Amino acid sequence: MNNRCRRQTVPAILSIVGLFPWLVACGPAEAPAPEVDPYAFAVPAHFPEPTYTLENNPVTEAGFNLGKALFFDANLSRDGSVSCNNCHQQAIAFADNPAHPTSVGVDNRLGSRNAPALNNLAFFPEFFWDGGVNHLDFVPINAIESPVEMDATLVEVVEYLSNSERYRTLFQEAFGITEITSPYMLYALSQFTVMMISAKSPYDEYVLGNTEALTPQEARGAVLFEENCSSCHAGVLQTDFSYRNNGLDDEFPDAGRANITEHPDDVGKFRVPSLRNVALTAPYMHNARFSSLEEVLDHYTRGMVYSATLDEAFINTRGQVKPMALSIEEREDIIAFLHTLTDRAFISNPIFRNND
Ligand code: HEC
Ligand code: HEC
Repeated sequence: MNNRCRRQTVPAILSIVGLFPWLVACGPAEAPAPEVDPYAFAVPAHFPEPTYTLENNPVTEAGFNLGKALFFDANLSRDGSVSCNNCHQQAIAFADNPAHPTSVGVDNRLGSRNAPALNNLAFFPEFFWDGGVNHLDFVPINAIESPVEMDATLVEVVEYLSNSERYRTLFQEAFGITEITSPYMLYALSQFTVMMISAKSPYDEYVLGNTEALTPQEARGAVLFEENCSSCHAGVLQTDFSYRNNGLDDEFPDAGRANITEHPDDVGKFRVPSLRNVALTAPYMHNARFSSLEEVLDHYTRGMVYSATLDEAFINTRGQVKPMALSIEEREDIIAFLHTLTDRAFISNPIFRNND
């Protein structure tokens, strides 16, 4: 925030009579901020171009609100018990409750992966831990139809929506349509999820030039992160969106990227995750292996195991596992830095709140 100008702490009359001319010079900083439409999709200045096809599905307030109604509606699941919000909760950056290390769907059926945080999805080229979905609009089909998540069919969901007076009105307002179809339902959900932009953490302020946004420890962590982590956790989203094996296992009950490519070189590789809001989203890794950031750092310094697809960054010249050489203090600095990726404005943004 701008803290150069503190005129509000001085009785207005003093500045008016000219006793404090320097305070008057502060004037413009106090002008009311220009009205920002909270429902307009805006790319943060330091972000890459969005990958989402916004031109086909521009965000509107009515479309966003329809998407929100769908996101919170458990009737999209077979037995009316599970909504998207069950596994993606705003207070923890739309990750899942830590009591569900792997996701829990209808009839308490257990999924095999940890539900990722949802943020900055408009900038993602592919989705899921294995990149199995390549367009955001198609993601909800997987959630709705997965037997371990919502276990319904798109046909059933469209029928439910069509029988609802409320939804008929919401679709009419959002898209001007009188007959509800699944593509419009998916458009509405995407309008809600593309607006989940997290770009106001202390880290963002730092990137945008405010060197005081990080404490000295956090700033040391930023340098160590750059040196040790950013070859994979790259750029402002902390991911290069590649699929890699970071040494969790030497056997792979979940083949990861190879499920999609069917290529043996991809067995045990998973998408490098964005680390935005990571301090809020424990447990960690696709299989929820670690319950704290300390455990994650322990993994990189002494827990990695060798397998044929282990990333070359973690292999030394003799073909053995090369753990990261980080002192305890350095690990603490990195963890302090990871906490600066927490974006309070995002997790408390009222536009995402259920107002039913
Ligand atoms: C039962 C828990 C559960 C429910 C319900 C659920 N999800 Fe998810 N979601 C997950 C899991 C687990 C993943 C990761 C899947 C994978 O990698 O195979 C995921 C992944 C995603 C992703 C991709 C994120 C990324 O980083 O690639 C999006 C977007 C998403 N879900 C949106 C939704 C929407 C919208 C709904 C409602 C229609 C929904 N989810 C319902 C558990 C759930
Ligand atoms: C060679 C690439 C690579 C490097 C270097 C790397 N990571 Fe990762 N990281 C990954 C991959 C791949 C995953 C996901 C693995 C999985 O779930 O199977 C991951 C997962 C994580 C997660 C879990 C996030 C979540 O949402 O579950 C954290 C935290 C993390 N890394 C932090 C770091 C830190 C801190 C460093 C540097 C000290 C680092 N990583 C270095 C590739 C890398």
